Amino acid sequence: MAKQVYNDYFFDEPAWNTHDGGYVPLEEPTTPQQKLHVPAVLQPDKETDTDMYYTVTAEEGETQLLPGPKTKTWGYNGSLLGKTIIFKRGKTIHITLKNDLHELTTFHWHGLNVPGPYIDGGCHAPVYPGESSDIKFVCNQPAATLWLHAHPCPSTAQQVWHGLATPVVVQDEVEAKLPLPRNYGVDDFPLVLQDRNFHEDNQWDYQKDYDPDGVQGKTPMINGTINPYIDVTTQRVRLRVLDGANRREFRLHFSDGLEFAQVASDGGIMPDPVYFTKVMMTCAERDEFIVDFGKYHDGDEVALMSDDVPLVHFRIHEFAKDDTKLPDHLVDVPDLPVTTGTKTRHVVMSGMDEEVAIDGKKFEMQRIDARQKVGDVVLWDITNTNDMVGGMIHPFHIHGTQFLVVSRNGHAPYANEHGWKDTVSVNPNEHVQIKVRFEYTGVYMYHCHIIEHEDGGMMAQIESYDPQHPKTYKLMDMDTLMNAFAKENHVNPKDLWLGGMGSYEKMGMKM
Ligand code: C2O
Ligand code: CU
Ligand code: CU
Repeated sequence: MAKQVYNDYFFDEPAWNTHDGGYVPLEEPTTPQQKLHVPAVLQPDKETDTDMYYTVTAEEGETQLLPGPKTKTWGYNGSLLGKTIIFKRGKTIHITLKNDLHELTTFHWHGLNVPGPYIDGGCHAPVYPGESSDIKFVCNQPAATLWLHAHPCPSTAQQVWHGLATPVVVQDEVEAKLPLPRNYGVDDFPLVLQDRNFHEDNQWDYQKDYDPDGVQGKTPMINGTINPYIDVTTQRVRLRVLDGANRREFRLHFSDGLEFAQVASDGGIMPDPVYFTKVMMTCAERDEFIVDFGKYHDGDEVALMSDDVPLVHFRIHEFAKDDTKLPDHLVDVPDLPVTTGTKTRHVVMSGMDEEVAIDGKKFEMQRIDARQKVGDVVLWDITNTNDMVGGMIHPFHIHGTQFLVVSRNGHAPYANEHGWKDTVSVNPNEHVQIKVRFEYTGVYMYHCHIIEHEDGGMMAQIESYDPQHPKTYKLMDMDTLMNAFAKENHVNPKDLWLGGMGSYEKMGMKM
């Protein structure tokens, strides 16, 4: 069969963020190109045949992003973003979570199949300044690129904007046998795609840039580097791309239309590689690409772009010929049969700006919106009602699971949606069906991953329960978190400003 090469972005053009009233186009930085910052691999405190021990510290610092004054930034085990954290499948992972910030945070493992809500690290698991907390779980899921980010409600967006986001890589023996580049920092690079605005003295100002439909910046920032380049020294390069922006969609393509392949989606290697010249990523999604630079020569340069702005420049150097072809089939992804007797779960995402909601409601930390039996495979039907001007694409995410995409408006999902996903974007007027199974019990959040939308209440939670072993959970309440934020920031609770608050107030709700 002839190889199919896709030449569009898959998503509906009228719904792209370029049509938003508040759209902020990217601009090519005018500052000199800098070598891409490749996050160091976080070294375990200790590793045995069966266990890995890590310490992850959230901290504040300063980073030289532009010429001139450094920018005040936050990061994990570093001043901005963080180090790459590796989990080996089958091992028990012990992590000490330390908070050296001046305010509370949480440590959410986006894409990791772990019990909720405390290990999962959503809003119910705050770690207060100067304190630490220990988690432990068994890593038992396929090799994948996941991420860690802060998730305190309703200040997730602001903390991620400050820099609390870092790549997590799960390794396993299946992936290790595939003919894929995996020499970290040489032919295998994480690429965290973000955007920022620089204000006076090169500082970020989240409040000044606030937009309830998602904060955007005109300057692309990749792994915390402005205007980066990569030295290409091998013919084939693997890019583990994360859309780590609060709101921005990235429409990726190379400056000369180079074809590239996707081999993994959010939760792991895809059944078959998918080839294209253009692909769009929405917030929180991860795509792993294999780029073959075989046709270029020493001294050439090609750029990875989003729309018409270069994100990363690839400077080609001499490399050894490597015509390794991707196999037509990579891994088997099981097709989970829906558990008989279960009912389809309908979820409706609606609204824009402050009016965003799930099933007509705003998030409430102590309300459990749905229940699903652990181990059951249930069909979820996610609708994006197009009830406001033009509507927009909402990236829908569920904590603590990897799901399978079944259909879009009754049609086949996009070509690159046949593997494990934890975030699926829904076009306006579309309903997307997915098959969801929780492997652990717990309370898990599900929400739009435009981070200002989740902070604004476009979020709900589900309990995965075991009828034999009923559990009760101590769920945090918003007042406790808000009072803590106020105290830590030395302001009166009534003078506290957090991004998502306005959305609740506008709806006449108390948080
Ligand atoms: Cu990236 Cu609630 O998560
Ligand atoms: Cu998550
Ligand atoms: Cu949304």
